[in-house]
Amino acid sequence: MERRTIGAAALEVGAVGLGCMPMSWAYTASRQHGEESVRTVHTALDRGSTLLDTADMYGPFTNELLVGRVLKERRRDAFVSTKCGLLVGEQHIVANGRPGYVKRACDASLRRLQTDVIDLYQLHRADPEVPVEETWGAMAELVTAGKVRALGLCAVGARSTRRTAGSRLYDATIRQLERVQQVFPVSAVQAELSVWSPEALLTLLPWCEARGIGFLAAMPLGNGFLTGTLTPGEGFEPDDVRARHPRFTAEMMAANQPIVAGLRRVAGRHGEGVTPAQVALAWVLAQGRHVVPVPGAKRERWAVENAAAAGLALTAADLAEVAALPAAQGSWD
Ligand SMILES: NC(=O)c1ccc[n+]([C@@H]2O[C@H](COP(=O)([O-])OP(=O)(O)OC[C@H]3O[C@@H](n4cnc5c(N)ncnc54)[C@H](OP(=O)(O)O)[C@@H]3O)[C@@H](O)[C@H]2O)c1
Repeated sequence: MERRTIGAAALEVGAVGLGCMPMSWAYTASRQHGEESVRTVHTALDRGSTLLDTADMYGPFTNELLVGRVLKERRRDAFVSTKCGLLVGEQHIVANGRPGYVKRACDASLRRLQTDVIDLYQLHRADPEVPVEETWGAMAELVTAGKVRALGLCAVGARSTRRTAGSRLYDATIRQLERVQQVFPVSAVQAELSVWSPEALLTLLPWCEARGIGFLAAMPLGNGFLTGTLTPGEGFEPDDVRARHPRFTAEMMAANQPIVAGLRRVAGRHGEGVTPAQVALAWVLAQGRHVVPVPGAKRERWAVENAAAAGLALTAADLAEVAALPAAQGSWD
């Protein structure tokens, strides 16, 4: 697989990563199977998807434990990226950016991941009660201590500020990035980027590119919608995040079908086995050499299919066709 470089530390990863979240979090729990997930991580590594993206809050904790089972056997094949800063409670999720907490969280992640170093340690969300520089300073000390190789920041408030449309969507993130950059270099930013959520292209992606910062594209398959394998009206179990997602009502899924149809049309021009999911990922890859999509998958066949998207070169005509697809309907407002 093509390799891409992340950030000033020039960390090398396979162009398509693996998002491990669906194995333990956010999607229907009854479909989560630990053994299949472990096989999926192995398969992804075999196919060159070296970047494994997880977080201490996925599960909580069980996703890192799962990834750790694979890392124990083949640490050298993998690039592990995890996150801290969010605590899962009974009814809600809270941020904790206190320096002492962040250091303890890192030690706990290292234990669960069965490794002595994390390649990319990301702040999941800034704590509104702690100046972000203090949290980042503690994370920088983890680099000095050799527990972490590089630091990343996840985009903040993208969903809650969705109503400030267009280029201002990521203003809060950029302000935070500018503040933490004064303390220690940011190697990667992680934020949503996909054919139906392209907002990061306006300001955040160019901001990263201009500074040599990598961009991890979260939810590159539109939570599965862009793969064309979901049927409008099929419904989701209550524990699945899509049961509450405004774009996943039967009405909105039906209204957004022209987007999937467009991806399918482009896929059809590239040969029989090419899928809309692969076109969606190839589109993300085409947005810049600093961009690495991390499609989430718990099934082995998806890991194989998604890794193969790194070899799909979209033409200028394909990209223009995708760019001309209708904007997605349905938002969090
Ligand atoms: N930093 C943040 O705040 C943040 C937020 C959200 C996500 N993320 C990261 O981004 C990653 C990706 O996001 P995501 O997993 O929510 O969404 P996604 O990658 O857009 O979509 C994942 C869904 O697509 C399905 N899928 C994957 N490949 C497929 C294929 N080739 N054909 C058909 N279906 C396919 C998966 O099914 P199965 O699960 O059944 O295999 C899963 O339900 C996460 O795993 C996580 O690491 C980060």
